[in-house]
This record gives sequence, C-alpha cells and structure tokens, in this order.
Amino acid sequence: MFNVEKIRKDFPILSRKVNGKPLVYFDNAATSQTPQQVIDAIVNYYHNYNANIHRGVHTLSQEATDLYEQSRQKIQKHFHAKFSHEIIFTSGTTHGINLVANGFTSILKKGDDIIVSALEHHSNIVPWQMLCERTGANLKVIPMNNEGELVMSEYEKLLSKNTKLVFVNHISNALGTINPIEYIIEKAHDIGAAVLIDGAQACPHIKPDVQALDVDFYVASAHKMCGPTGVGILYGKEAWLKKLPPYQGGGEMIAEVTFEKTTYADLPHKFEAGTPNIAGGIVFGAAIDYMNNIGFDAIAKYENELLEYATEKLLQIDSLKIYGTAKNKTSVISFNLKGIHPYDVGSILDKLGIAVRTGHHCAQPIMDYYKIPGTIRASFAFYNTKAEIDALVAGVKKAKMMLS
Ligand code: ALA
Repeated sequence: MFNVEKIRKDFPILSRKVNGKPLVYFDNAATSQTPQQVIDAIVNYYHNYNANIHRGVHTLSQEATDLYEQSRQKIQKHFHAKFSHEIIFTSGTTHGINLVANGFTSILKKGDDIIVSALEHHSNIVPWQMLCERTGANLKVIPMNNEGELVMSEYEKLLSKNTKLVFVNHISNALGTINPIEYIIEKAHDIGAAVLIDGAQACPHIKPDVQALDVDFYVASAHKMCGPTGVGILYGKEAWLKKLPPYQGGGEMIAEVTFEKTTYADLPHKFEAGTPNIAGGIVFGAAIDYMNNIGFDAIAKYENELLEYATEKLLQIDSLKIYGTAKNKTSVISFNLKGIHPYDVGSILDKLGIAVRTGHHCAQPIMDYYKIPGTIRASFAFYNTKAEIDALVAGVKKAKMMLS
C-alpha cells in the first residue's frame, strides 16, 4: 500500500502556502522537492565534514573524501555501472552532454552524421550543433508524430555507415513520452555508432540499468530526483571515457604538471577538474537512498495512477487539448485551452497556489511541430495526490471562465 500521506510528511515545503492557498506543486519536471532526509544530509555535511577532497592528509579532508567516493559507489550501484570510475560527477545533465560533445571534437570528421531526435530538450540539441560547427559533421533529426512519439521507421532510414553518434532523451521533458531507447541503442550499435541517452527526466521515475541497456553514455541530474541542484552524473563506458580527452583543465585532473608537459589523472578524476560540488555529490547518494527506500516500482505504479486520473479529469474540460498522447508516457501532461495563452492560465493557477510550468519547456522544436507558442505543463511526482489534481482541474476551469 503506497502511503502518500506519510511520504508527504518528509517534504516540509509541501505544507507551505502560496498566495494564501496550500501549495500544489506540479512543476516536478523542472525540479523535484527535497525531503527532510536529504536536507538533513546537507546540514550534516556542513556541520561535521566540510573540507576539500582528495587533497589533504587531515582527518576532515579524508572523511569528506570517503563520503564523496562512497556516494559515487552508491550511484554506480543504482545505475548498475560496471566500475565506479565510470561515474563522473558533473554540475548536471547539461554539463555531462557538453563534456561528451566536446570530447568528440577530435574524433569526428567532416561528412560524419550525428543523430538527435525531434523530442529533445535544447541541452541535447545545441551542444551537438556546436560540435557540428567545429567538425563539419551533419546533424540529422528523428522525426516525431502527432502523438509525440519518435518515428522508428524514419530513424532506421537515417542510419548509415556515416553515423557516428546518436543522442536521444529517455523521456521527453515537454510531453512525457518514454522513448524506445533499447531499440534505438541496438540499431545504432548495429552500424557501429555510439549512443548518449539524456536521462534527466527518466531518473525520477525509473531506475536505468546502463549495462543491460548497453548504452555508451547516460546523463542525469540530482535535482530531478529529490537531490540538490548543481550536481549530476555522466556515466560512460570505461573504453569511451579513456578515449575522450579531458573537458576542462585544472587541479585534480592531472597526474603530473611541468611547463613542458602535463599528464592526466586516471578515471574518474581526468574529467573532474577543480573543487567539485562536494556536499552535492555526497547528498546525491542520500537522495538515491531516499528514492530507493520508497522503491521505483511503487513510484511508477502510483504516478501512473495519477497520470490516468488527471488525463481523464482534464479531458472533461471543453476545448482543452493534451499534447503528447504516447502509449508509453510518464506523469507529465502538456495542455492548452483553445484561444488562451498558456502564460495567462499559469498566472491564474499561481494565484491559486498551483505551480505549473508554462512556455516552450526548452523544447522549441516540439512547439513548432504543433504550431503553438507553448503549453501549460503539469508534471506529477510520487508525493502528489488526486486531491491536488482535483484542485488543478478546478483551477483550469476557473481560468477558462475568467479568460474566455
Ligand atoms: N528541463 C527542465 C524542465 O523541463 C528545466 O522544466
């Protein structure tokens, strides 16, 4: 039995009011809320362990280093990576993607193809466009259909001996579509291309197994999964990480420095220049523990109930259209009211204490496909309730009345 009321008690922010109304937080795809257990882990770090890592013989530095490396191992286990040095701490998903894109500058050559999908967040488009500018490679796009699904028959047509890389998100942030990444990876590998999966929106809902997926790179952010902002991970297969050059130069990523020549540290430190987000890295492990204690199967089952309930209730509103009706989707609903700008609806919902995101959701090509400026996006987490969805539905009806 999924005890949502007990879970909600872990999240202090859920009992605050916004504009005099109880907060209804439906912007989880932008960032998730933080349970007390994770807040306590942040405080515990600064109360007891704050020191720089990998640098000192003193006790605090060694304790902080142990906690940081233990967290890396926890993350390795969670993603089922073969080695802990295949987990690189980053500042978030965007950093991980840029690290890989930068690394391929010296590997790609003019005329090579790289493939992205029509469902990508800008962070999985722009770094590849920049890579194409640097190398003369071509960017090709897997198209989407009206349901917000990728068209796999078109993907297969794009693959050729020139394809070197494929980049797709695991779950679309704007529509919630779960992409068939197993198939995408298998087809790319058949022709010898590498695959990066952007898991930012997937990791709050499912537990990816990078070895079972046989994926080359997988990126994620802690703040989407009950952790702090400013920290994330890049998983890369050992062979790829050895092959890619460092992204940034600085302290910590070196073996030896002279003015004549510098040699680089082994993995994972080769990609971790400078003092990292130490508290963030340690606390990411605490967030993963928190979510695993609830259980990803239970989370997925409960969120699916919320998705079905909200979809049914919202569709009862005349002139409301949902964008993204894929068979396989997570708890994200993007919608509009006919003739009304999403921003206006979002502003009225905010007055009612209901937090949704409005706009293009950093996925302008999807909005262009539907020929709309943006949507209202309600994204649910395991700590949301059906009563909150009822409040959203009532709020949307009210907004419709006021704005029609
Ligand atoms: N990528 C985040 C979102 O979808 C910020 O809102």
